[in-house]
Amino acid sequence: MSPRHFLTLRDLSKEELGYLIQRAIELKTMLRNGQRHEPLRGKTLGMIFEKASTRTRVSFETGMTQFGGASIFLSPRDTQLGRCEPIETSARVLSRMVDAIMIRTFEHSKVELFAEYSQVPVINALSDDYHPCQLLADIQTFTEYRGSIKGKKVVWVGDGNNMCNSYMEAAAQFDFELVVSGPENYDPPQALQKEFASHVSLERDLNKAVEGAHLIVTDVWASMGQEEEQAKRAKAFAEYQVTRELLDAAHEEVLFMHCLPAHRGEEISHDLLDDPRAVVWDEAENRLHAQKALLEFLMVGNH
Ligand code: CP
Ligand code: NVA
Repeated sequence: MSPRHFLTLRDLSKEELGYLIQRAIELKTMLRNGQRHEPLRGKTLGMIFEKASTRTRVSFETGMTQFGGASIFLSPRDTQLGRCEPIETSARVLSRMVDAIMIRTFEHSKVELFAEYSQVPVINALSDDYHPCQLLADIQTFTEYRGSIKGKKVVWVGDGNNMCNSYMEAAAQFDFELVVSGPENYDPPQALQKEFASHVSLERDLNKAVEGAHLIVTDVWASMGQEEEQAKRAKAFAEYQVTRELLDAAHEEVLFMHCLPAHRGEEISHDLLDDPRAVVWDEAENRLHAQKALLEFLMVGNH
């Protein structure tokens, strides 16, 4: 039987995603109560990082430790992955040894190819096109603060990037309204706009976009791999900074999220993360709990 993978939010059903959010909240409570839970004893997670990471690496490694398992950090700099060993070969070999594999890379097709040749579950820990693990943490965080996100209005500010694409998928999977507000030439892919038209719309006027918003989210203007476009992008995105005043113009119960790392003075004002409506520290912590729920689900099944 072929394993379940988590390359995008589409790989799980709405019910399974709903289960993961509830399970993440439950696992967080269990950890807070000092309750030991080691469903992955003797199991190993392989972690391939072709891009930098703080949160993703630490949350996956810590999650495996708390679950009684182990993890191996693999960077292209000191493995054969960086010396052009084909992805198909790496997937076949690694998946005969470890019990699940997590990949952070550039082209999304690499994650797909790896999954095709892997005998064990593969998790996309960020590609140029999607960042589904972050969405699990974001939806968990919203749920903890405000209850179900179903029917709520979410505004994505800025670049139509990997995070935005995952928000578009999330809008359909968790049934909320998503408004994307950014400059021309940086819209999310046409194909996704078409596919998710029932849940997603574009609004260039940021002030108009945030009216009635329950959640405002943004991300850096230049993602990893786009560093040389930084100056050009800073110009294009200048009007799309999230400030306290922008939050004031939204719903009175609005929350603000950012996957981090954030660039203060660029996509957010210097003081935004100090605002009580910004829940980015809980959001970052929830990477741990949400991914534990994911690891448990993919490696042992429902509880
Ligand atoms: N949000 C996120 O994925 O952070 P890292 O790049 O630090 O892993
Ligand atoms: N869009 C950002 C997200 C970082 C977590 C990037 O890809 O660099």
